[in-house]
Amino acid sequence: MLKSATLLCSAAAFCTAASLNVSTGLGHFLGSRNQSTTIESWLGIRFATPPIGDLRFRAPVRVPDDISSVHNATSFGNACPQIPSTSLGAPQAEDCLFLNIFRPSGVHQTIAGLPVLVWFYGGAYTHGAASDPSFDATAMIQRSVDIGKPILFVSVNYRVNTFGFLASRHVPAQDLNAGLQDQIAALDFVKENIGAFGGDPDKVTIWGQSAGAGSVSAHILYPANRTLFRGGMANSPTGPFKSSPFAFQYDEPGKPYALLTSVLGCPSDGRSFGCLQQVPFELLRNVSNTMISNTLNGQLWEPVVGPPGSLVPERESARIASGHFLHVPYLAGTNNNEGTFFTSSVRNITHQASEEAALFDNYVARLVLDNRTITQPILDEFRRLYPANGTNNGAPFETGDSLFDRVEAWYTDNMFLAPRRLFFDAAAGKQNLYGYFFKELIPGNDPSLGVTHAIELQLLFGRLTVAPSEAEFALNFTDAYLNFVNDLIPGPSWPRFTTNSRKVLQWTKGNITPIADDWNLERTGYLASPLVLDAFEK
Ligand SMILES: *[C@@H]1O[C@H](CO)[C@@H](O)[C@H](O)[C@H]1NC(C)=O
Ligand SMILES: *[C@@H]1O[C@H](CO)[C@@H](O)[C@H](O)[C@H]1NC(C)=O
Ligand SMILES: *[C@@H]1O[C@H](CO)[C@@H](O)[C@H](O)[C@H]1NC(C)=O
Ligand SMILES: *[C@@H]1O[C@H](CO)[C@@H](O)[C@H](O)[C@H]1NC(C)=O
Ligand SMILES: *[C@@H]1O[C@H](CO)[C@@H](O)[C@H](O)[C@H]1NC(C)=O
Ligand SMILES: *[C@@H]1O[C@H](CO)[C@@H](O)[C@H](O)[C@H]1NC(C)=O
Ligand SMILES: *[C@@H]1O[C@H](CO)[C@@H](O)[C@H](O)[C@H]1NC(C)=O
Ligand SMILES: *[C@@H]1O[C@H](CO)[C@@H](O)[C@H](O)[C@H]1NC(C)=O
Repeated sequence: MLKSATLLCSAAAFCTAASLNVSTGLGHFLGSRNQSTTIESWLGIRFATPPIGDLRFRAPVRVPDDISSVHNATSFGNACPQIPSTSLGAPQAEDCLFLNIFRPSGVHQTIAGLPVLVWFYGGAYTHGAASDPSFDATAMIQRSVDIGKPILFVSVNYRVNTFGFLASRHVPAQDLNAGLQDQIAALDFVKENIGAFGGDPDKVTIWGQSAGAGSVSAHILYPANRTLFRGGMANSPTGPFKSSPFAFQYDEPGKPYALLTSVLGCPSDGRSFGCLQQVPFELLRNVSNTMISNTLNGQLWEPVVGPPGSLVPERESARIASGHFLHVPYLAGTNNNEGTFFTSSVRNITHQASEEAALFDNYVARLVLDNRTITQPILDEFRRLYPANGTNNGAPFETGDSLFDRVEAWYTDNMFLAPRRLFFDAAAGKQNLYGYFFKELIPGNDPSLGVTHAIELQLLFGRLTVAPSEAEFALNFTDAYLNFVNDLIPGPSWPRFTTNSRKVLQWTKGNITPIADDWNLERTGYLASPLVLDAFEK
């Protein structure tokens, strides 16, 4: 409390508010103050050279220093190319590597900076934008001031889908997973420049949800060779990846790289990469979007395993087992019914009871790049663990639609709960871990989806619009995040997950309580077994 009181100025005469005109090695950035909220922001800051022309699909390249340039930082930069959406908050373009900085007003220029929270959006590594209005951090920043733990918030665009995760043996190894490398470039910018904006470059926490959370865990598992952050928070991390085949598997007949080159008339050999770089943007985006739409859940691309020396040189399960990852404090959790968000394709399907198991198998087999590794004995074990009309399906959440409930429960466990447990079990004793299980069905949401994927973000970003009945619960939840950003501890009532005490915090209104991390243990144990991890190329 004492420290933060000195960081933020009130009306005291000796206390000169920091300027909105911030000077860095990259030039002067002219920010603005929101008159109604008093939040100060710098929007659309370019953190890498435009990834266009010869830089399309390439790892991001630094912006050259230009200390005298002046940048009007009052509007969001372009969103990265993806399927059209009304929720991006900005137009789409290939030139999309921008970040945004938000801080409370009254930050004192001369005192050590505020802790920094960096946000990576989710969206299956396929869509999303930092400018999406649902990621408005106003309420969070205001709350941080109210509790005497002010933070500075940074949101980051990174390339997604074909533009960020093109994979092939013909993509140069150093350029694979360009979207993850964009995030690292943004963290480099933060490290070098956030001090000028009133942040502390040594107190950076990275945070994300879904693919954004997968990204956080990826930066912990496959760290850059420099210290860019001191803690990570991951809401519903995807593992970090739902699967991660080797890059060359995308070249096989019928697989995305082979399809893309053939549809666009590019050769299939070593010239293909250069050819794809030259395809006109609109055409490439159209073809990419069509291919995404034709893939179950849009999962055409995601991060891949590359050769030694590349950013992701081995599968995540091998990396986790090795223990060779960053031992920084980490907060992560899952929701009760994550899977309902991803399983609408198996909802309300009229079928005979005798057909149901095959429909379950088919959903599972269409999620991965190459389903030949998913054997019938594995599918049979899924059928047994998630039985028809089971009373513990949907994690648990019975809609009465047996196929939907089975698939939803399986998806929740396979994509979210089992990977979270696998990492926690390996990292316990190596670093401070805080786990959660979110079970609050927030009013105003579709009850037939249960406590679905991403629902908890409404409490963190949307607190000003959430139902009054949730207001206090939302504050409790937000405070845990703000505590972590400030102190690397989410608060006294959130127990550390340790080898001797495997506990996570259950978030239900009126019953925020530590529980044993042991529900659905037979299921998650099988899903995290070497046999299944290998079949799913995790
Ligand atoms: C911003 O600050 C720089 C360096 O002090 C100065 O050169 C520039 O004129 C300022 N720009 C504005 C619009 O205030
Ligand atoms: C000020 O912030 C509020 C709340 O986030 C937002 O709705 C409004 O559009 C902002 N005003 C401007 C001028 O950006
Ligand atoms: C910055 O951009 C805003 C919005 O486009 C505009 O209103 C403002 O005049 C610009 N400021 C400068 C210094 O160019
Ligand atoms: C990190 O790796 C990059 C690329 O290999 C290299 O240029 C840079 O010097 C390295 N930095 C440190 C601090 O080792
Ligand atoms: C891309 O698709 C849009 C909408 O379907 C269409 O209007 C446009 O002509 C297409 N552009 C190219 C280059 O194919
Ligand atoms: C599923 O079908 C039932 C019965 O036809 C209907 O009442 C319900 O609205 C449908 N639900 C969805 C999500 O389509
Ligand atoms: C699930 O239960 C319903 C209602 O009893 C029944 O009609 C249906 O056939 C059952 N499904 C399977 C796959 O056994
Ligand atoms: C496996 O994937 C192929 C397409 O690659 C698909 O045709 C087939 O139906 C899938 N297998 C199952 C069991 O669904």
